[in-house]
Amino acid sequence: MTHHGPVIRPRRLRATPAWRRLVAETRVHPAELILPLFVREGVTEPVPIASMPGVVQHSLDSLRAEIARAAAAGIGGVMLFGVPEHRDAIGTGATDPHGILNAATRVAVAEAGDALVVQTDLCLDEFTDHGHCGVLDADGRVDNDRTLVRYREMALAQADAGSHLLGLSGMMDGQVAAVRAVLDAAGRHDVAILAYAAKYASAFYGPFRDAVESQLQGNRRSYQMDPANRREGAREVELDLAEGADIVMVKPAMSYLDVLADTAAASPVPVWAYQVSGEYAMIEAAVAHGWIERERAIDESLVGIRRAGADAVLTYWALEAAERWAQV
Ligand code: PBG
Repeated sequence: MTHHGPVIRPRRLRATPAWRRLVAETRVHPAELILPLFVREGVTEPVPIASMPGVVQHSLDSLRAEIARAAAAGIGGVMLFGVPEHRDAIGTGATDPHGILNAATRVAVAEAGDALVVQTDLCLDEFTDHGHCGVLDADGRVDNDRTLVRYREMALAQADAGSHLLGLSGMMDGQVAAVRAVLDAAGRHDVAILAYAAKYASAFYGPFRDAVESQLQGNRRSYQMDPANRREGAREVELDLAEGADIVMVKPAMSYLDVLADTAAASPVPVWAYQVSGEYAMIEAAVAHGWIERERAIDESLVGIRRAGADAVLTYWALEAAERWAQV
């Protein structure tokens, strides 16, 4: 069949920077970026993390300064992770009001004022001596329902410390309902829940385990999801919505953009994505070898996550990306 119409020329709208800027479908606004921060107990200076060049374990003082920088950059929020000095079987440090995460939360909330949403990781893995996200039964398996008891206690401790948003990252069944119930019973209707709804058992968490000095032997495959499963991701999101999640998240981001797009199409609440430590480390490592253009690669990775449907992104590049995208 002969084609008689005009040649269709999509290139017309790509011809100049002005055109490209005008027709760009996706941008990354600083307010849509969330910076994860590690806070280490017992240090007075920030400690570099070898597998995450440019990322540190903060002292309480350097945390305060970083919160001020985050507020000035206009990002949406920070997510706090604690690195305790002592660990035990039930993660006692997680519920100690003076434990590092709760102490850091008080510092961050005071410094952030109204400028940032201060978020806290609600999970036991940083605090347990076996490194699992929950408590173990007599056979060494992660005990779902006894873990929920600890998550309830942790939720109250984090709410008391002033956290605005609890990041439930442990992948226990029923964790959102359990935490919502205990918060409501305590009159803490104001504290919101971010459900790590579709969280996969991923190799891309490797550098994070260095960052929190994880004690984990083995793996998390009996509670985090199998990377092969897309339909199950939708089911996990549905369950967390039914249990009362205020925001749902897909994690990791880059290898799960289909799950993210599915979630964005179906969710009545905001959908976030976590660009995890391994995604950060991969790009930084390739840059260090001179194999990839740093800023272009970072910005492309972020715009891709936004394009797939994330309303906001947790990323270790939040501050520098906010600076660049503020000019776009
Ligand atoms: C669990 C938690 C993990 C990450 C965030 N929350 C580790 C895990 O599930 O093993 C990983 C984040 C990253 O890799 O950047 N507390």
